[in-house]
Amino acid sequence: MASKNHGMKALVLSGGKGSRLRPITHTSAKQLIPIVNKPILFYGLEAIAKAGIKEVGIVVGETQAEIRAAVGDGSAFGFKAVYIPQEAPLGLAHAVKISRKFMGDSPFLMFLGDNLLKSGLGPLVDEFFAQKPNAQILVTPVPNPSAFGVVELEGGKVARLVEKPRQPKSDLALVGVYLFDRTIFKAIDHIRPSARGELEITDAIQWLVDNDFTVVSRRTDGWWKDTGKLEDLLEANRLIHETIKHSIHKDARVDALSRLEGRVVLEAGAQVVESVIRGPAVIGANTRIIRSYVGPYSSIYFDALVENSEIEHSIVLEHARIRDIRRIQDSLIGQRVELVRSGAKPEAFRIMAGDSSRFEIP
Ligand code: TTP
Repeated sequence: MASKNHGMKALVLSGGKGSRLRPITHTSAKQLIPIVNKPILFYGLEAIAKAGIKEVGIVVGETQAEIRAAVGDGSAFGFKAVYIPQEAPLGLAHAVKISRKFMGDSPFLMFLGDNLLKSGLGPLVDEFFAQKPNAQILVTPVPNPSAFGVVELEGGKVARLVEKPRQPKSDLALVGVYLFDRTIFKAIDHIRPSARGELEITDAIQWLVDNDFTVVSRRTDGWWKDTGKLEDLLEANRLIHETIKHSIHKDARVDALSRLEGRVVLEAGAQVVESVIRGPAVIGANTRIIRSYVGPYSSIYFDALVENSEIEHSIVLEHARIRDIRRIQDSLIGQRVELVRSGAKPEAFRIMAGDSSRFEIP
């Protein structure tokens, strides 16, 4: 099969507004939010490398410094990364449009940087080279199609693509992985911005269909998650946690009064003192868990502190400090957030929260 050295490039979209993940995205890139202590984007980049792709264009926006710092020249992944700055989030098809020079005549795989996919990309690339369509899309049935780009098939063929339809005629959502040959650039030259002001990739693919180019679709084999909002991030975290193996770094410390149950990952310098960790759970480098309970599906990133608290089914980012909090669940706690009990009178919540923060208090 054609998996290696086939000249295919990749385009990874890592710009965007991230409005559904504010306030986290006020200050950082959503594609770098860790899922089980690894940035979301890295799962996609690793799958691209594994599919044998050697040249990757990364579309970046306001958060480009952070993305560049994390991915570098791509050598850690085994490919060459080239950054393509997008002046504003003007749509997925706009991101493709500005990559024209980088792509040249190469076919390419486009990957949305906040998407997670269980199955690998190699078989999709092989199929593309075997069939040589102009575009190959990936679909999967979803319970809420109006939140996605929706694909209508007729006699097994792609007939219509609609972005976030109010009354969807199919339950097949477009997964964030597409393969294109260079006719997509011609298609994009023919479309206009949608009502929300974006150049839509669904409109570009529809143009290919309407002009008798070959657009084939394939169903995903495993799960797929678009992590654009909190519930989906937590679900992705749960799905990846199902795959982790128990592993305790030699420089992690667990005292005699603590208990680890099930699959637990302790990274270098993690400390567990008088605590119970019930896996699947991951505790990042130099993070301290003191007199606390960390329950299933928790991912605590590096240099954080959880003291005299209980937490479960949550993602905690680096340098966060949680102290004397009875129970936290289903939460995403940002970098350097402090969640502490003051003990001061009068008993009241004293809060300094960023724009668009959200609290649910019992
Ligand atoms: P979306 O999640 O569809 O868009 P968004 O990032 O603007 O988020 P929200 O809807 O919450 O405001 O984008 C999918 C991926 O593509 C994501 O990784 C961001 C990226 N993207 C770009 O790089 N450029 C763009 O113009 C757009 C719209 C998205």
